[in-house]
Amino acid sequence: MVLIYRILTITANLPLVKIDNHSQLHYIGLMIHCVCNNINTAKVDQAARCGAKSADQVQSHCGMAFNCGQCRESIEDRLAVLQAHPEPLLAAE
Ligand code: FES
Repeated sequence: MVLIYRILTITANLPLVKIDNHSQLHYIGLMIHCVCNNINTAKVDQAARCGAKSADQVQSHCGMAFNCGQCRESIEDRLAVLQAHPEPLLAAE
């Protein structure tokens, strides 16, 4: 794969771009779970650190309440990950 990319960069005169997978980690914290209330992963993680154990508690911690409720599953999935891995591999900031 790297060789193919390198050949393409030479033959098509494309710039050689080094892909840094770690730079992607920054964006994980910005993933929006709740569109209605602009609650991203970093806010869910912050609420969890303050003791939130449910999506309702995350909303409450953020000073919000559910509107459409479409985010409930996504928030609870993130809480489950945090509860399964108290020291998350990918910390959202
Ligand atoms: S997306 Fe969270 S209440 Fe609508």
